[in-house]
Amino acid sequence: MNSDATIRTPAVTSRLPNVGTTIFTVMSALAAEHKAVNLGQGFPDFACDPTLVDAVTHAMQAGHNQYPPMTGVPVLRQAIAAKIEALHQHRYNADSEITITAGATQAIITAILAVVHPGDEVIVLEPCYDSYVPNIELAGGVVVRVPLTPGTFRPDFDKIAAAITPRTRALIINSPHNPSATIWSDVDMLKLQDLLTPTDVLLISDEVYEHMVFDGQQHQSVARFPALAARAFIVSSFGKTYHVTGWKVGYVAAPTSLTAEFRKVHQFNVFTVNTPVQYGLAQYMADPAPYENLTAFYQRKRDLFRQGLAQTRFKVLHTQGSYFQCVDISAVSDLGEADFCKWLTQEIGVAAIPLSAFYGNGFDQRVVRFCFAKKDETLFAALERLKKL
Ligand SMILES: Cc1ncc(COP(=O)(O)O)c(C=O)c1O
Repeated sequence: MNSDATIRTPAVTSRLPNVGTTIFTVMSALAAEHKAVNLGQGFPDFACDPTLVDAVTHAMQAGHNQYPPMTGVPVLRQAIAAKIEALHQHRYNADSEITITAGATQAIITAILAVVHPGDEVIVLEPCYDSYVPNIELAGGVVVRVPLTPGTFRPDFDKIAAAITPRTRALIINSPHNPSATIWSDVDMLKLQDLLTPTDVLLISDEVYEHMVFDGQQHQSVARFPALAARAFIVSSFGKTYHVTGWKVGYVAAPTSLTAEFRKVHQFNVFTVNTPVQYGLAQYMADPAPYENLTAFYQRKRDLFRQGLAQTRFKVLHTQGSYFQCVDISAVSDLGEADFCKWLTQEIGVAAIPLSAFYGNGFDQRVVRFCFAKKDETLFAALERLKKL
């Protein structure tokens, strides 16, 4: 029999010693504690289209409740292939080049685990989404951080070129960009194509905000650039497009040989993604209006929020895409970004995210991020408080 002294949990050496609770969780908890208006974490506070809920409900009632194929239900893969072709004139084979994933998060880590060997270098452009770096580390890869230009957040192709070595396995890009709300132009994409074409560098293109591109601009998907598409995993997420971040369903489009490697990892980490949501999404996608109208929907919210911010002492930065709005806090406070966000939550009652959270070295440029994927009344409530600053 075991005595208390022999019952113990063995110690482990952390695979991710630098990872703690994320700033998103910290700020959301602080927002809840102080009853702050939460413009921190990026998710809508309004309902999705009831037609989509009905489509998923019907799929369940119709008995679509057992394992789907490992790669995702064919009708959904076909709908995605048709949509990419209609929007970007690139035909992916629904059977061999598209895989349904548990959100973009699982798509990104799976792509990394599929192609990055220990010691391979992977370039990230900072500020970057918080999952990229730990994903690379879990694969045993070496993270190579290249900054986007402070102030404008534009890619610096000389710096990216200088970071490429014979050990570079992949580059991760993200447009529209979280957190800076910038987008890459066709000129940027052509420069990237010129840069990568002579190399064996793979591209992971995080396009989860693809349908939020403002002021008449066009989303420059990697799918539009054949020499990039030939080396890329394109990642997207239904969570952002259809206001259902909690459903965690996304997809990856990649050439057959890359998809084959992707699926080897996919089948042993999630195997597959819940069936009724896939059928519901496939049916809902038959109507392009919801994603076609998304830009107008969010552009109105962006403008409403920016008009309010113009009456504060924040310097309001450009928002070209995504549902984020960054502001420079220099004229409002002497605090660093993280302390300012905590203070803003506790004392003013509005939660925001410091951009320093998206840099490995905590680089502080006095800029914080608000999320405007919120009901108008939520935005007005936040603005009312921010105007007091
Ligand atoms: C840039 C970026 N990539 C990926 C994700 C994760 O998407 P999903 O919820 O589909 O996993 C997010 C979510 O905030 C994001 O902002």
